[in-house]
Amino acid sequence: MKWSQFFNTSIGKKLLVGATGFFLCSFVLVHLAGNLQLLKDDDGKAFNTYAAFMGHNSLIQFIAWGLKIVILLHAYVAIQLTFSNRAARPVKYAVNPGNQTSSWFSRQMAIMGSILFIFIVIHLVQFWGQFHYGQISTKTYEGVAEPLKDLYWLSYDVFKHGLFVVIYVIAMIALSFHLIHGFKSACQTFGLNHKKYNGLLSFIGIWVFGVAIPIGFAIIPVVIYFK
Ligand code: HEM
Repeated sequence: MKWSQFFNTSIGKKLLVGATGFFLCSFVLVHLAGNLQLLKDDDGKAFNTYAAFMGHNSLIQFIAWGLKIVILLHAYVAIQLTFSNRAARPVKYAVNPGNQTSSWFSRQMAIMGSILFIFIVIHLVQFWGQFHYGQISTKTYEGVAEPLKDLYWLSYDVFKHGLFVVIYVIAMIALSFHLIHGFKSACQTFGLNHKKYNGLLSFIGIWVFGVAIPIGFAIIPVVIYFK
């Protein structure tokens, strides 16, 4: 069977959604670590230096374009799977705790995933689009050779609006649900199912991806708003 044929089967699509999902999990970890620098009281030196490095490094820029393709692929194939499951239910989600729960589960993944997708589009226009293609002011720091685009100021400007803070917090609730179930499902798709490691995987899925990461993202707009 050719690769293109394989990725047209239900199992091929589930593997694709799982693999792209794991890649996106690694992205949110790195993205959060970088973004937490927004909370430093250093007039944006650390965050703007980090953003300039990410924006100028060719390897990172290559991965960043790949990331956008991965987001589209993940969403497209997941929607295809949801519709084909609904039409025939030949292969259900890997986490299948019973018929009723499993249809709730797949609906929930589709709804939270869609909220996240809309959030990502708004977010990219607000930040990525402004950073790379917009008119953004620059700032000079002691010990830094060149003036840096002031993405720190842009973030503070966006999160002074309560509406955006609410949108971000709601999106992070969706992220929490999506990651808890998505991580578990992807682990099962890849057969990561062993008595010895199941406890650790479920801890990572629930506490790291389902709780710590969404809370970490959500506190950024909230703290900035009340600063
Ligand atoms: C408070 C929360 C967040 C803040 C302050 C934030 C901030 C930013 C900023 C400043 C950029 C532009 C930097 C650049 O292009 O290099 C960016 C890009 C991006 N963000 Fe966020 N972000 C947040 C949450 C999220 C979440 C939860 C997701 C996904 C679920 C996400 C997905 C992305 C993506 C895909 C990009 C484009 C990355 C790239 O092209 O390098 N962000 N974000």
